[in-house]
Amino acid sequence: MSKLWGGRFTKKTDQLVEEYTASITFDKELAEEDVQGSLAHVTMLGKQGILPADDVDTIKDGLHRVLQRIKRGDWEYAIADEDIHMNIEKALIDDIGPVGGKLHTGRSRNDQVATDMHLYLRKRVVEFVDLLQKLQSALLEQAKANLDTIVPGYTHLQRAQPILFAHHLMAYVSMFGRDAERLQDSYKRINTLPLGAGALAGTTFPIDRHFVAKQLGFDRVYENSLDAVSDRDFILEFLSHASIIMMHLSRLSEELILWSSTEFRFVELDDAFCTGSSIMPQKKNPDVPELVRGKTGRVYGNLIGLLTVLKSLPLAYNKDMQEDKEGMFDTVRTLQGALQLFAPMITTMKVNKDVMRQAVNQDFSNATDIADFLVNKGLPFRQAHEVIGKTVLYCIQQNKYLLDLSLEEFKQFSPLFDDRIYEVLQPVNVVNARNVYGGTATPQVTDAITRAERELDATAAWVTEYAEKSR
Ligand code: ARG
Repeated sequence: MSKLWGGRFTKKTDQLVEEYTASITFDKELAEEDVQGSLAHVTMLGKQGILPADDVDTIKDGLHRVLQRIKRGDWEYAIADEDIHMNIEKALIDDIGPVGGKLHTGRSRNDQVATDMHLYLRKRVVEFVDLLQKLQSALLEQAKANLDTIVPGYTHLQRAQPILFAHHLMAYVSMFGRDAERLQDSYKRINTLPLGAGALAGTTFPIDRHFVAKQLGFDRVYENSLDAVSDRDFILEFLSHASIIMMHLSRLSEELILWSSTEFRFVELDDAFCTGSSIMPQKKNPDVPELVRGKTGRVYGNLIGLLTVLKSLPLAYNKDMQEDKEGMFDTVRTLQGALQLFAPMITTMKVNKDVMRQAVNQDFSNATDIADFLVNKGLPFRQAHEVIGKTVLYCIQQNKYLLDLSLEEFKQFSPLFDDRIYEVLQPVNVVNARNVYGGTATPQVTDAITRAERELDATAAWVTEYAEKSR
């Protein structure tokens, strides 16, 4: 059979043009969604009396068979049939004869492809919320196991103030929580049906868009037919959410890479998540976080790529829009890989509590606290800051830490010091002094973990509910 759209042509398509314009090599990933959309469409055509019931049944049976063949791998697509939509239609007609040609009544590939993408992406969104939730749980479990682990907190990558390692990990739980929330919020926009928009203007057939929406589990339909076929915001939104997730993962990656270096030795990643060097026998490289850090670039690239494809594009459908797919599939795969690996990598990570503790005993990260001590004695903070600055300088010159100074030495800098400062300066007390909501004191972090656990339960319930809805 010739091309499904071959009627007005007198020449064969140039071979190179065929290859250049075809999308089947990558949009074959949408096969299931394409059949799903077609089944709902043809059911509606029957209900509306646009097609006789017999034809509808024949078409549905045929579509099921085509999908089974695709799933079994007993199906060969043809570049000449351009994309998944026409490949499936062709396979249907081969299977059931000319009646298969009635499927496309009242429909265009423009509203069809948009529908497929919505169906595809809403499933992925639920899967990503699930993966994020699992990563959050892994981080939260590590946090629970490290409520007594004190570690230097950094600003400018310089030791700043000691914190609980649990507090540091819980920061990421919050970030990934916002990421999940963003995806959950985007679901309502993804879950809007474009089908029924026709090529751009609607259709002359008395279709029922709301019936199709209901069958496919869409909460609403696009209000405007031009918008329905032109909109790719929902993909852009996904690509930007994915970029933010990768950005968060890249920051955690960078920390894991630093922490597992010999210079830090704060953590050790499990052997199962590292690789060796082909020349240096001693090496154990943190390849997974390094690759996640690196792959963040391609995920950003896919976002910028599609933004640029859509920039200045006139309404409605333009072939440019076929470029929406490869980047999206690539981002889905890249993000899946990263999130799937991260949760078990965090779970199996060994935390060197002693090395961390030792680190806080050998720095000046308790300096703010003796400044605060002087403030509590009535000294204005600026003056206290100056006094402690001088004290720290003295320590550096003497090759000592604050806790090594005698009370006489302290008193050289201010008469307000008394021997309670030795308690104040203990890292554990420094940590627990920050007992404000959201702070690093043990009771605060314990509460934060309890709150996060409740949120994770709610997210898990959302995933269960929406996994069903998005099927
Ligand atoms: N393969 C096309 C795409 O992915 C499907 C829509 C084609 N529509 C058209 N009018 N050529 O965008």
